[in-house]
Amino acid sequence: MSAKVVIGAQWGDEGKGKIIDILAQQSEVVVRSQGGNNAGHTVEADGVEYKLRLTPSGILGKNTTCIIGTGVVVDPGVLLSEIDMLTSKGVNTDNLKIDYRAHIIMPYHIVLDGLMEKARGKGDIGTTKNGIGPCYMDKAERIGIRLCDLLDRDIFIARAKENTEIKNKFITKVYEAEAINPDEFIDKYLEYAERLRKYAADTTVILHDAIKAGKKVLFEGAQGTLLDIDIGTYPYVTSSHPISGGVCIGTGIGPTMIDECIGVMKAYITRVGKGPFPTELFDEVGDTIRNVGHEFGTVTGRPRRCGWFDAVIGRFGVRTSGLTSIVLNKLDTLTGIPVLKICTGYLKDGEVLNDFPASLTELAKCEPIYEELAGWDEDITGIRNYDDLPENVKKYVARVEELCGCHVSMVGVGPGRDQNIVR
Ligand code: GDP
Ligand code: IMO
Ligand code: MG
Repeated sequence: MSAKVVIGAQWGDEGKGKIIDILAQQSEVVVRSQGGNNAGHTVEADGVEYKLRLTPSGILGKNTTCIIGTGVVVDPGVLLSEIDMLTSKGVNTDNLKIDYRAHIIMPYHIVLDGLMEKARGKGDIGTTKNGIGPCYMDKAERIGIRLCDLLDRDIFIARAKENTEIKNKFITKVYEAEAINPDEFIDKYLEYAERLRKYAADTTVILHDAIKAGKKVLFEGAQGTLLDIDIGTYPYVTSSHPISGGVCIGTGIGPTMIDECIGVMKAYITRVGKGPFPTELFDEVGDTIRNVGHEFGTVTGRPRRCGWFDAVIGRFGVRTSGLTSIVLNKLDTLTGIPVLKICTGYLKDGEVLNDFPASLTELAKCEPIYEELAGWDEDITGIRNYDDLPENVKKYVARVEELCGCHVSMVGVGPGRDQNIVR
């Protein structure tokens, strides 16, 4: 049995796509279990850059089965344009399977995402406005439309009309916006259904059988630990479960079938959207990290908020996903910064906190306790052996490992497929 989970251990955009692409080359099945096209995973393979939002990054492997699991919310138009983009670049997508139970993002979800954000005013979450939250709301309310419903013409038409009528009451009466006419999208969605039919499957069976047969399976996380709806910085979170536990919920396999949990972190921290962020940098160092690290959203192009590495968050990620190892990306982005800081704990009302607090009011009061480490000037992007890295890089990695209480098994020194060093 070899089932590995890769999750984001910070606020998303840790470079999961790159690591998953590397591990996917040794995997026979790659699976997405949660989220939707709010994700943006950048993979650079053979000099070509791919920005994937819904398709598992394993799609670039020729013989890899790629699964979109039960817990993913699927915008069919976005998925089909991604399939078209991949086809135009010579990537075969015949091995893609989408679970019948996956919920479908409908046009009213996208409209409501925008209207709800606007109504929140200054308290907005900063969502990607892709309809993710409203789609998961319908799932929890038990009025969602799943892929199996989309594939049944009569059921889909009836459900789409029924739901639009309900949503129009909110759209016109609560948010005072213009009603949606279901006749304007139903035919388009029925066309999507015909194109998606060949990919539809009961992926819970495919996955179970693959694991039982000893195939190498990789679970591709989206978003990150602090965006988890239960564990994250609620309400500034997404509406799904990016932690390792989400894999079981969103694919229909049990926890006993998972062997390894790898957490991806950056050598610093970024976040998009709103909410407290203890180590956030508002100075030139923050600007340098943003510019050198190209920290702008893959999906929305929004500048990402940047800050020092936070070991309180690191430990939280290790604990809540039961991580067996850490991948530390983007060490190269820190090159040239003379003094680096790592947050080892928080100071709140005169008390030292070592664990990430539940309450955002408490988090907002937390002052990071910093430890300073000497930086490095050497270009590390071409180094491939751990021993060849400058001493200060190795000291930095060792300290991260020590403070997080988990082995760093790989470090990233550039965006390319080969710019990683296995320890
Ligand atoms: P994901 O959402 O976790 O897959 O991450 P994103 O793709 O949104 O953002 C990570 C960005 O960092 C992408 O542009 C990657 O190509 C890039 N990247 C990943 N690892 C490294 C690294 O070690 N060094 C540098 N410079 N860039 C990296
Ligand atoms: P990847 O997989 C970073 C953030 C949004 C917003 C919050 C809720 O690329 O790491 P949503 O549209 O999900 O309701 O927005 O979550 N967010 C992400 N931030 N990386 C992501 O994905 C994200 N997906 C959602 O910015 O703050
Ligand atoms: Mg991303």
